Amino acid sequence: MRITFIASECVPYSKTGGLADVVGALPEALSTLGHEVEVIVPRYRSTKPGAVLPNAASVTIPLSSGFRFASIQSGGAVKGVPHYLVDCPEFFDRDGLYQSKDGKDHPDNALRFAAFALAALEGLKRVSKPPEIIHCHDWQTALAPVYLKKLYANDPFFKHSSSVLTIHNLGYQGLFDSQILPQISLDGSVFNIDGLEFFGKVNYLKGGIVFADFITTVSSKYASEIQTPEFGYGLEGVLQSRASRLQGIMNGVDYDAWNPATDKLIAARYTPKNLDGKLVSKRALLERMGVRHPALDRPVVGIVSRFAAQKGFDLIADIAGELARMDLHVVALGTGEPEFEQLFRDLAASSPDKFMVRVAYDNEMAHQIEAGSDIFLMPSRYEPCGLNQIYSLKYGTVPVVRATGGLDDSIQEFDGTDGTGFKFSDYSGPALLDALSRAIKTYRQPEAWKRLVQNGMKCDFSWSASARAYARIYEQLSASKGRTQTAG
Ligand code: ADP
Ligand code: GLC
Repeated sequence: MRITFIASECVPYSKTGGLADVVGALPEALSTLGHEVEVIVPRYRSTKPGAVLPNAASVTIPLSSGFRFASIQSGGAVKGVPHYLVDCPEFFDRDGLYQSKDGKDHPDNALRFAAFALAALEGLKRVSKPPEIIHCHDWQTALAPVYLKKLYANDPFFKHSSSVLTIHNLGYQGLFDSQILPQISLDGSVFNIDGLEFFGKVNYLKGGIVFADFITTVSSKYASEIQTPEFGYGLEGVLQSRASRLQGIMNGVDYDAWNPATDKLIAARYTPKNLDGKLVSKRALLERMGVRHPALDRPVVGIVSRFAAQKGFDLIADIAGELARMDLHVVALGTGEPEFEQLFRDLAASSPDKFMVRVAYDNEMAHQIEAGSDIFLMPSRYEPCGLNQIYSLKYGTVPVVRATGGLDDSIQEFDGTDGTGFKFSDYSGPALLDALSRAIKTYRQPEAWKRLVQNGMKCDFSWSASARAYARIYEQLSASKGRTQTAG
């Protein structure tokens, strides 16, 4: 089958979070299953220019606010998967994928990502063959299914194409003033409760949910959660109405990039059988963080995260006093909302021997924290899947997580023999503290801890099983499209 991914970020070209990891790895897993896959992403200012080859085609972007023009460049093949970059400097040659340096959304995001969706569809026609599946991700590309149904319904090129939308995070929907509609080649016929209208605004993600042929999200638990008012962000009703076309598929991870047995970014490599390199990595991490004579028997709690309300760091603020009195180090790496950056800076200033903080985006350090920590903390308010807890399992770093979304699906409570981590359900500081205390108590029992560490390291979250689940959906869609057309 021919499958085209359209996404706003993708490793190694661009990344702000886990979306880029997924779009960077799933296509390769699908191509290993024998599918022909290609990926289309924007060419941002930060897109590694070395990878870009000469223009493959130039396309007209049919925006009703005025045609724009983009060149479709070949980004080369990554592990056998061709990548195309939409180069449209007016929209993408600037700092930040979605926000400027001061943390504010780019004011023309509505136009930028409408233009990207259209450029991707137009570009496909120039550089590729008709795909059976167009797989979109999150609000930034959720208009592609809308355009396919509303503008391209009679285009012979897309006659056999079905669309899939993956929701990586319902907390970001692409909500814009309704005046955007006449600028993005859509008319009032989509502005109603069965279309893109959402409390008087235009909601791109809702458009994708309504118009895509199939919707997936990134864990089974999150697929049920988003159909409830607590997690649905107002879209629970429309998601319920599409429940028969909605499925949760747990993300895999790329063990070529995240494996302590081969990782060149960490101080020493290690395996479940020989964990010596983990202790070397712990010492190196603490030294890098400025600890002069690291006490290696003291547990290190790692955090690597976007600093966003979703991630639950207000709970850390609630228990900061208790944490400062405990015999541990907290090593945190992240960037994001100023409020949380400040929280971590304040913690580091008040207890520098306990809290070591880097407000930065640093892939190398992310690997070193995974390897050098004993415990990995993810107290998320909600978490569609979460990748860091899965990386942590592989690095023998025991996850302490809130039992939500993919965190709940991927981590089992340790019972002394079986299980891979520690979970808490109540969104409260005391519940978090209790789970962390259970982890530290087990850390003090070397035999039990070793077993727990090895349980995690033996888990397999490679992409192959998830890729097969996606392939089954693609095949059903493609078969039913064939049936509809025969019947029609
Ligand atoms: P989300 O996509 O919600 O941010 P995930 O756990 O799915 O959460 O993925 C986060 C990804 O981003 C991981 O690959 C993680 O290592 C990376 N990451 C997040 N923050 C940073 C940071 N400050 N520096 C380096 N990598 C980071
Ligand atoms: C989102 C979610 C995260 C998920 C990632 C990749 O950013 O917040 O939980 O792992 O997408 O699907």
